[in-house]
Amino acid sequence: MIKLNESKIVDGYEREWDALFSGGAFRLRYRRDPFLDEISEHLQNQDVHKILSVPCGDGINELYLCKKGFSLDCVDISSEALRKFKRRIGRRPRVAVYKFDAFKLSEKFQNAEAILSLDFIFHISPKLGEFLSQVTRSLKPGGVLIFNFYTPLDDSYQHGKKIGKKTYKVIPNILIKYFTLDEIKRAVEDAGLTLTLVTEYVRKDKTHYGFRREKGDFHTHRGYLVYCTKKVNGDERQKTAI
Ligand SMILES: C[S@@+](CC[C@H](N)C(=O)[O-])C[C@H]1O[C@@H](n2cnc3c(N)ncnc32)[C@H](O)[C@@H]1O
Repeated sequence: MIKLNESKIVDGYEREWDALFSGGAFRLRYRRDPFLDEISEHLQNQDVHKILSVPCGDGINELYLCKKGFSLDCVDISSEALRKFKRRIGRRPRVAVYKFDAFKLSEKFQNAEAILSLDFIFHISPKLGEFLSQVTRSLKPGGVLIFNFYTPLDDSYQHGKKIGKKTYKVIPNILIKYFTLDEIKRAVEDAGLTLTLVTEYVRKDKTHYGFRREKGDFHTHRGYLVYCTKKVNGDERQKTAI
């Protein structure tokens, strides 16, 4: 195992993700997530109209959610990702896009009805608590957080250089940590969120980051989709009542 400062890797992400999105040897998947219908239905049942997507990447999922009728605020730190996002989404009155750091989210966004964070938390493991606490501050009481993560059953597990417990570094300089459901449950509770639903999923992806391949050009991700709500504590209930 190589000793590396994982937090420093996460802090240097703007450059790393710009490099990934601008192409070269690395190819990002370009298929939207298969569980977007499940997410849409859940949010519609919760009467959510606007989603804060953090991070939005190149907008592949956001375009679909917009077509489903949601308004979206979309945040990413990579200018290259956002350039592709704008090209994909075009001008749509219900979609706003911001180049912004997820670790400062609550400075710009408060009272969000719902936050969607797809394919993110396993890239930021050393700062997961910080991110979840930003999310909690940005949500309205009772607001919804939905995110996914991968387990050691994922095809890509152990790919790259091992740099920590269940943590690997892939080229150019991106972290991937594989979590157990118990680890995630603890992190969510610590951040003042209540886990309301967990669904398991399997997703076939175009090979990216140079992960090992299955037949042809695909690998299979195995993970969980997690639904949480921000707790409505005594103080917040009082404020609402006033
Ligand atoms: C694997 S991509 C996921 C993008 C999108 N959610 C999706 O599912 O296609 C990870 C994204 O995190 C963004 N990112 C990394 N660090 C960030 C930060 N501190 N603040 C905001 N976005 C960040 C990257 O630019 C990249 O677009």
